[in-house]
Amino acid sequence: MSVLFLGEHVPADVDQFARFVGPDPGEVLVEMAEYAEREGFPIVGPAVGGWLCQLARMVDAERVFEFGSGYGYSACWFARALPEDGDIVLTEFDADNLDLARSYLDRLGAAGRATFEVGDAVETARGYDGPFDVVLLDIEKYQYVDAFETIRDAIPPGGVVVADNTMSAGRESPDDTVSFEALLRAIEDDDFEVADADLDDLGRRSTRGILDHLERLDQDPDFETTLLPLGDGLTVSTRTR
Ligand SMILES: C[S@@+](CC[C@H](N)C(=O)[O-])C[C@H]1O[C@@H](n2cnc3c(N)ncnc32)[C@H](O)[C@@H]1O
Repeated sequence: MSVLFLGEHVPADVDQFARFVGPDPGEVLVEMAEYAEREGFPIVGPAVGGWLCQLARMVDAERVFEFGSGYGYSACWFARALPEDGDIVLTEFDADNLDLARSYLDRLGAAGRATFEVGDAVETARGYDGPFDVVLLDIEKYQYVDAFETIRDAIPPGGVVVADNTMSAGRESPDDTVSFEALLRAIEDDDFEVADADLDDLGRRSTRGILDHLERLDQDPDFETTLLPLGDGLTVSTRTR
């Protein structure tokens, strides 16, 4: 079995077991994962996808907002859990990716539950009032705080923000752009500084972005955060009031 979707710090056998335990992706999502593997496109993968679908069911999600949708893999998992009159907003720089997303959602009979927004996800979010029951952050890591600030007030109590790549990103080490070692050191040293000499500029910015995201949520009295150590690691932040 391929380990393409696995982050460096989540053991491959754990992710594999999570896939076994999780829901059957079905033909379309399997095809989409094969596309990711062929093209080297970073998707959340089936273990996290199944969990996102379950999350949407757990909170009875009617409206979902995605920062960074690619060609719609995570959106297709969400869409499975949405009611007929639900809506998921997909955002993506690349119009071709969103066209592909539309065709996959169409095959799942869910294109009518989707809104496609080409352009910068943070700018797009400014045009929406919400409410959104679930929000996925999966854009550049240094944009996470901006994305959260933009959508925060559109999340009602009980709503959930999920941020991908909290433990790693890039998947094909050594191109990993989020350094788990640097994150751990920053937390252990309690200085929240990125001190990893081996990181390039993007790695430093991305790791900094994750730290800023963690700090921002930690300081927000209205949100409670836990870690989901699957795939590349995700933070799960619930609005408590
Ligand atoms: C990791 S992929 C998303 C994968 C998707 N969530 C999934 O699991 O199927 C990130 C995508 O976000 C897009 N992206 C990055 N920054 C963005 C931004 N600021 N606005 C819109 N799209 C962005 C990239 O083009 C890329 O396709």
